[in-house]
Amino acid sequence: MAYSPMTYEALTMAQNVEQDDITKAAVILAEGKLVAFPTETVYGLGADARKESAVAKIYQAKGRPSNNPLIVHVATVDEIYRYADVESSWNPAVVKEWITKLTPLWPGPLSIILPRGVEIADSVCAGGPSVALRIPRHPIALALLRAFKGPIAAPSANPSMYVSPTTAQHVRDSLGESVDFILDGGACEVGLESTVLSLLAPTPQVLRPGAISLDTLRHTLGCPVEGPLSSGEAQTGELLSPGLLAKHYSPRTKVRLRTTISQGERLPEKTGALIFSDWKPNFPTTVTTVLSKCGDVEAIAARLFGALRELDQADLDLIVVDTCEPIGLGEAIMDRLIRASRQ
Ligand code: TXA
Ligand code: MG
Repeated sequence: MAYSPMTYEALTMAQNVEQDDITKAAVILAEGKLVAFPTETVYGLGADARKESAVAKIYQAKGRPSNNPLIVHVATVDEIYRYADVESSWNPAVVKEWITKLTPLWPGPLSIILPRGVEIADSVCAGGPSVALRIPRHPIALALLRAFKGPIAAPSANPSMYVSPTTAQHVRDSLGESVDFILDGGACEVGLESTVLSLLAPTPQVLRPGAISLDTLRHTLGCPVEGPLSSGEAQTGELLSPGLLAKHYSPRTKVRLRTTISQGERLPEKTGALIFSDWKPNFPTTVTTVLSKCGDVEAIAARLFGALRELDQADLDLIVVDTCEPIGLGEAIMDRLIRASRQ
């Protein structure tokens, strides 16, 4: 996806965020409080990544299990080196070369896992030896990072297990009072969470698919990259990425993929359908939402979570979702849908 950075002037004209709001948000973060802010993927719930007491508020507001580490947002590659401890990598020279090769993908929807640096609070890393870092490309996120002048730990700004927020209203709806300030940057451009790539072993591994595809990473790094565990594979024992629980991203209403519905099966009276293609449901529906008529994965990703939230509020007994080819961004879409449809 081509990206042309907006100037701050363009940003303030396009979106209703003033420099005053950015300054205020940075002060609130410095006070150890929570600020929700837009990124190009989803809205993040931010806190100072160096302050245990601030990070504790994130876990509390989200009801997030303490064994699920957070992504740290920074503004520059220099800060990646500052907040990770690349020298203690399995091979510092190779890892530095990988980071250099990945640099053209930032700012952007890619998080990398590295050995953690000393400044990051223990709880950000769930007490573990590694840290996830990314440079987001949303102009408001970057402006906030520059004003705050420090690392911002930010998971998606939703209650644990629920659908990630792609508008400020989604954040208000589900976290409301527990957030001290919300920067409203309109709807997120990508709509799905960042690709998470571990650099902790000789073969880099994608832990969570996102807008930066496996092919792009293989091409950019010029070496083999392992794909994510399929969302169908139950993770047991020590989790590679504790956030990748089999069930996740779920509306409260039951979700099924259309490929699991058998011909002539009787579905509940109040059934909704979410359509990405030329599929025409052959069962009665109460509500139908069309995200694309031709499988346009960028359009589907951008509106997917918002559409799931809307259908979740439509008092349905079942949401049947369309499927797409699990390639490129389609892999991330199907990953989220398979998890949302788990019981
Ligand atoms: O696009 C995104 O990544 C958004 C925006 C706000 O940046 N953030 C986000 O954060 O999706 P969260 O917390 O919802 O997901 C973070 C994922 C989880 O699956 C978590 O387990 C994984 O990253 N993660 C974080 N630190 C890790 C680590 N040290 N090792 C392995 N996985 C890690
Ligand atoms: Mg999340």
